[in-house]
Amino acid sequence: MIRPDILVAAPMPLAVMAALDARFTAHRLWELGGADALPPTTRDAIVGIAANTLAGQIDSRLFDRLPHLQIVANFGVGYDNVDARAAAERGVIVTNTPGVLDAEVADLTVGLLLATIRRIPQADRYVREGRWATQPFPLSATLQGRQIGILGLGAIGKAIARRLAAFDLAIAYCGRHRQPDVPYAYFPDARSLAQACDVLIVIVPGGDATTHLVDRPVLTALGPQGVLINVSRGSVVDEEALIAALQDGTIAAAGLDVYVNEPHVPAALIAMANVVLLPHVGSGSVATRAAMGQLVVDNLIAWFTQGKPLTPVAES
Ligand code: DGY
Repeated sequence: MIRPDILVAAPMPLAVMAALDARFTAHRLWELGGADALPPTTRDAIVGIAANTLAGQIDSRLFDRLPHLQIVANFGVGYDNVDARAAAERGVIVTNTPGVLDAEVADLTVGLLLATIRRIPQADRYVREGRWATQPFPLSATLQGRQIGILGLGAIGKAIARRLAAFDLAIAYCGRHRQPDVPYAYFPDARSLAQACDVLIVIVPGGDATTHLVDRPVLTALGPQGVLINVSRGSVVDEEALIAALQDGTIAAAGLDVYVNEPHVPAALIAMANVVLLPHVGSGSVATRAAMGQLVVDNLIAWFTQGKPLTPVAES
């Protein structure tokens, strides 16, 4: 079988790299010194990209250097790292990895919510630092009786809602449309949702349409008992406004898996005791990352053997 030349934009799990090498001539962008360092013959040969949500942008700058590019297969359900509009203009297909990570991200979200409200990381540090013997750990707030607001009721948002419904919590949501088939209260915008809730879970896709959807007025509406959980993209939350809201008591606490400028985390967040910080690990189990990688490989194979990718994004 011919082995199409593809560009792997950032490292993937080893088994995924092996699967790519088995079917493709896989050029490692990070070993080659970046797009500008690719020899013209390699640029001409590249017909696919295996991209990675957790690494750099895939946009016109790269597309312009790869005249025969046909497909960008993204490792991640979010694809704000790929300029899908620029790809569509060039007839380049974009695929993502929906479905295989919903449960994993939902589990992590519940864990982060509990960790934030019950102050689990702080309690762990308390024990390790030998402080328990001196005085009991301060009592925490409770998850019970909370009104949960989910900003973005897609597949992951629904998986989070199902889990939290099992905790006997009242759930409301905001999304582009009311969904008649779900048993949760609907609010048309982020601010009215925040006004009705005291926990706001952010799980909308990143990108221009959702940038700073959670701003100072939304945080003010969430209120002084409010807890913000962000497991989507840092760009969705106005990070400066969030820091100010945590510092001045506009909201009580935050649990964050994502940041504006990853892997940089603002020093102000690191300094705060009412924040739990994770390093973008929503989908970060061995099994789920392997499943995501396999879907990247399968999308590329399906495109090059049948001309039909398995999970193209809407713009493709
Ligand atoms: C995704 O799939 O978009 C995740 O954020 C990557 O872990």
